[in-house]
Amino acid sequence: MSTEAAAGKPVYNVKNPFLAKVKKAYDLSCAGAPKNTRHYEIDLEGGELEYLPGDSLAVQPTNDPALVEDTLKALGFTGDEIVKHPKTSAEVPIRQALFEATLLTEIDNKLIKAIIEKTGGNTPLNGLLEPDRKEDLKNYLWGRFVIDLLLENPTAKFEPQEFMATQKKLNIRLYSISSSQRAHPKEVHLTVATVKYTSHGRERGGVASTFLAERIAIGETVIPVFVNHGKGFRLPEPSEDIPVIFIGPGTGIAPFRAFLEEREATGAKGKAWMFFGEVSEKTCFFYKEEFERWLANGTLAKLTTAWSRDQAEKIYVQHKMLENSAEIFAWLEQGAIVYVCGDAARMAVDVDKALHTIIEKEGRKSAEEAVAYMAALKEAKRYRRDVY
Ligand SMILES: Cc1cc2nc3c(=O)[nH]c(=O)nc-3n(C[C@H](O)[C@H](O)[C@H](O)COP(=O)(O)OP(=O)(O)OC[C@H]3O[C@@H](n4cnc5c(N)ncnc54)[C@H](O)[C@@H]3O)c2cc1C
Ligand SMILES: NC(=O)c1ccc[n+]([C@@H]2O[C@H](COP(=O)([O-])OP(=O)(O)OC[C@H]3O[C@@H](n4cnc5c(N)ncnc54)[C@H](OP(=O)(O)O)[C@@H]3O)[C@@H](O)[C@H]2O)c1
Repeated sequence: MSTEAAAGKPVYNVKNPFLAKVKKAYDLSCAGAPKNTRHYEIDLEGGELEYLPGDSLAVQPTNDPALVEDTLKALGFTGDEIVKHPKTSAEVPIRQALFEATLLTEIDNKLIKAIIEKTGGNTPLNGLLEPDRKEDLKNYLWGRFVIDLLLENPTAKFEPQEFMATQKKLNIRLYSISSSQRAHPKEVHLTVATVKYTSHGRERGGVASTFLAERIAIGETVIPVFVNHGKGFRLPEPSEDIPVIFIGPGTGIAPFRAFLEEREATGAKGKAWMFFGEVSEKTCFFYKEEFERWLANGTLAKLTTAWSRDQAEKIYVQHKMLENSAEIFAWLEQGAIVYVCGDAARMAVDVDKALHTIIEKEGRKSAEEAVAYMAALKEAKRYRRDVY
């Protein structure tokens, strides 16, 4: 039994989410920024949702109604045809099922197979499901939604329930919580980059990030949410004199804002150093005033920023780490815990390499010894990552 259940509190999960409303939302990135990142304050009034810094919030989005209508049109449906809801199995109009429960932005192999069959193989999809064509399939599907395949294959006609059986489910998205509940007892905050791009001549959006940015009315729209409790991403006890190093470019800043609010509220003892990176100081210095306050009141000992596009050459957090290698190594030797959050594909890999370089250089170690040093950090839970 969970601690909430044991305490007689409601247990919120995917089957029983808390129905929240956003009470405040604003842009963190200013005009002129190449992408839009936003701050959301979600009202927890009326619920007993509890979280700790390091947890993430699961958000159940709905689809863009315009995309639902375009998809229905491409299918030749009115939208009133009755189908089984993919999640509840209730009989509902297909418009509702597509809006609430299907992933119109990703293509299941079942849809490809059905289109190949229905067109008698007369489609660019023909052959793409062969085991040796995985890369071709990936490239073909990149930047295409379900509607693209329907429009590109107009002779493939579906019955409503038959179409539903070819669709993936629209599941929750996770967001690192960017607030401390000690500082905001009845709120949970998120820091979300709005995913927008154009492909194959169509403007597109990530489902959940554009749902939050463009399709909610403040104080009105109900958003199903629940807490996903983070296992390893936790601060040391406030009384422990342990240094902490936070590395969080872009939206990777989210859990560290929560950590810093928590450290401020608890008067945490150990010193903290934040590495933050974004494209430009002028347009993307997220939470600047809060950082200034934390620096002034000692919550944060050091803030090091990397503005990637404010000069001709790219400057990223790992470049700033390498510039500060002697001091980072000194903090490691003092027992510091290193936390990394943000982009998994590139940033986290490069930051990992930078840490190895710092240990080799400042610790006068061989490459193998640096690997062993890092392995020991991981073993001691002093290298913690929350990357996506
Ligand atoms: C533990 C965890 C914590 C997270 N915390 C945060 C956070 O704090 N803040 C945050 O913003 N995100 C966070 N994320 C990521 C978040 O969960 C979502 O993945 C993200 O918001 C995108 O979701 P979406 O529904 O808007 O987009 P989706 O509908 O999932 O669309 C994203 C997809 O769009 C496609 N795509 C994107 N750009 C292009 C392009 N240019 N061309 C073609 N296709 C493209 C790609 O296939 C990509 O996978 C976190 C993820 C995890 C797992
Ligand atoms: N799959 C991908 O290729 C990809 C890439 C980026 C982001 N994303 C996803 O997009 C979402 C939002 O991203 P985000 O807003 O958090 O920020 P982000 O796009 O990761 O960018 C934040 C900052 O990190 C810089 N950066 C780029 N490559 C880096 C690297 N290798 N090492 C260190 N810093 C690097 C960026 O610089 P520049 O932009 O100037 O290079 C920018 O200044 C996340 O979900 C992320 O995972 C995916």
